Amino acid sequence: MHNPLKIGIVGCGAIGSSLANAIFRQFRGKARLVSLFDIDRQKAGALSEVLVKDDSLVASRLSALINKSDLVIETSSAKCSFSIAQEALKKSRDCMVLSVGGILNKYRQLAVLAEKHNSKIYLPSGAISGIDAIKALKCSKIKEVVLTTIKNPASFRGVKYIKDKGIKLESIRGERILFSGSANEAVKYFPQNINVAAILSIAGIGPEKTKVRIIASAKTKRNIHQIKVYSEAGIITTRTENILHPDNPKTSYLAYLSSVAVLRQILGPVKVGS
Ligand SMILES: NC(=O)c1ccc[n+]([C@@H]2O[C@H](COP(=O)([O-])OP(=O)(O)OC[C@H]3O[C@@H](n4cnc5c(N)ncnc54)[C@H](O)[C@@H]3O)[C@@H](O)[C@H]2O)c1
Repeated sequence: MHNPLKIGIVGCGAIGSSLANAIFRQFRGKARLVSLFDIDRQKAGALSEVLVKDDSLVASRLSALINKSDLVIETSSAKCSFSIAQEALKKSRDCMVLSVGGILNKYRQLAVLAEKHNSKIYLPSGAISGIDAIKALKCSKIKEVVLTTIKNPASFRGVKYIKDKGIKLESIRGERILFSGSANEAVKYFPQNINVAAILSIAGIGPEKTKVRIIASAKTKRNIHQIKVYSEAGIITTRTENILHPDNPKTSYLAYLSSVAVLRQILGPVKVGS
């Protein structure tokens, strides 16, 4: 019998809070939540109160959380995910990163750091399906990867690119292609799609070669991601129709479930999927 894996969560919003609850409910004995950190201390405090009836899980600084944890789970923001992972890996802690967009162009640096400090980086598939097959296809040769993201026009409100192009979201009745370009450009113009484009690029052929199309559709209320991969070993097509996380309409519920699934792989005896 191993000691329970000590877990610290950085970012106590929709995914972090759901995951903290899951650790308490589903992984008792195998994992122990030891620390919570959020730049909004009240959020960490409120979550700790719900879980253990006091604020004993709240860390005053990120370094304090890292010192207590075997595994640091980042569920905060793309602005800080790289530095959080960097700090955790440097202290030989394993790290799971949800804000994958924040490490997109620097993940090799993290891989080198993990190797040096004998630690691991976990990047959940997040809001898309097909990462397992893409990982396998990469062992052959991938020729092309195309991501098509379809969302309700209202999801694009406030996006600067839409304003600059003079697109009137409220007048879209059917479907309209808003953007077509590389994952690197998509991440720049549509930061809310950053994680899906990032994990797909990292798993596949990189952000310059990965093609992205973004479509506004008045016919859907879901966040839909279609992926088409052409490779020497065959073609794969996936379509994921996500419901939204009840605590954050910008986050797909599947992204949270995917982090639970990764945790299950880490803690369980059998690793399923490529
Ligand atoms: N991989 C994926 O497919 C996927 C899907 C959805 C969301 N995400 C990403 O996961 C992250 C969490 O999503 P969410 O829905 O829980 O967001 P959220 O906004 O509900 O919660 C984020 C929390 O992080 C805290 N935070 C922000 N900056 C911080 C910092 N520097 N240090 C500590 N805490 C900080 C905020 O105060 C907030 O409580 C986001 O970056 C989001 O983009 C990834």
